[in-house]
Amino acid sequence: MEADGVPTASEMFRAQAHIYKHAFNFANSMVLGCAIQLGIPDIIHSNKQPMTLSELVSGLKLPPAKSNGIHRLMRLLVYSGFFATTKKLDENQEGYVLTPSSKLLLRSEIPNLSPFVRVLVDPVMVNPWQSLGDWFLGNESTPFETAHGAPMWEFCDQNPRFNNVFNEAMASDSQMISLVVKDCKEIFEEMDSLVDVGGGTGIIAKTILAAFPHLKCTVLDLPHVVANLPDTENLKYVGGDMFQSIPPADAILFKHVMHNWSDEDCVKMLKRCREAIGDKNEGRKGKVLIIDMLLDREEEEADMTEVKLTFDVLMMVLVTGKQRTEKEWEKLFLEAGFISYKITPAFGLRSLIEVFP
Ligand SMILES: C[S@@+](CC[C@H](N)C(=O)[O-])C[C@H]1O[C@@H](n2cnc3c(N)ncnc32)[C@H](O)[C@@H]1O
Repeated sequence: MEADGVPTASEMFRAQAHIYKHAFNFANSMVLGCAIQLGIPDIIHSNKQPMTLSELVSGLKLPPAKSNGIHRLMRLLVYSGFFATTKKLDENQEGYVLTPSSKLLLRSEIPNLSPFVRVLVDPVMVNPWQSLGDWFLGNESTPFETAHGAPMWEFCDQNPRFNNVFNEAMASDSQMISLVVKDCKEIFEEMDSLVDVGGGTGIIAKTILAAFPHLKCTVLDLPHVVANLPDTENLKYVGGDMFQSIPPADAILFKHVMHNWSDEDCVKMLKRCREAIGDKNEGRKGKVLIIDMLLDREEEEADMTEVKLTFDVLMMVLVTGKQRTEKEWEKLFLEAGFISYKITPAFGLRSLIEVFP
């Protein structure tokens, strides 16, 4: 900064780069979506050793004329940490290898987050962002409604293609719980029954059941989500509306659900939970389990904060929800008549909150 408070030319050029970086953020998501569409992580994985550009182009069955395009796509993806380059054994050639991020995008592995990326770059999800400014000036309840003429859950009901893409994305995100579920003995061992509310196609319930087979699980979701999903001995699907009723159980789980809703709606859901788990006085050990984000955690890395703040705006763009601080969560619990809660930061971006009556 110069003495008169005017930024120097070099500060202005840095500010220009800052603006362009952020205005171009969509390019990063599209390039990542393209890599997944082409199956680049899978091809590199199946090669078992660093893969040269020409091996990659022929593995992708692309004409040699596209080689330069793949080189440039990969150069950006290496820069942003999705791939790395290393020397091939016994050869003086560089090859591409996977990084921890691209290992999470492999179709053959669990967890596989490719479907989650795919839904985020789907035009149905991207278009509402272009309506954000119009939404501020208009009267629709969400930018999603401004763009598509219907609220998101109604749109999913009416659009089977997007409904599938969305449910697959949610299921892929839920696979991440398989990494830690075995460490959650204290949480699941003492209960007999669990309802996963807004549980999608039941991946979480199946993962919990695999680790704690004594449980009886019910997945409650909207009818168009659970239609035709087969029950098993320990797992039952119920098509219904969580605002109307929640089946009784020892624990009621909400993963990635409460952040979709306003405070008023969350309090309504939590009151339904109080009915479903009964009272401590009746000798039951009921609780509500919430897996969701908490804003403003002290121990947080900067990367996580940016993702959480982006998810918060995403909740404004798609639905009428938001991400919450601990104080904001606590207010909901007390308003719905719960007495105490415990936070375990066990799931990366998300924490587990146990809420007790
Ligand atoms: C963001 S998704 C989360 C899915 C799943 N819990 C997960 O994390 O993979 C929210 C879910 O809530 C469901 N949902 C929305 N409104 C609902 C309602 N009124 N009653 C029950 N489920 C509802 C949606 O269909 C969707 O499956």
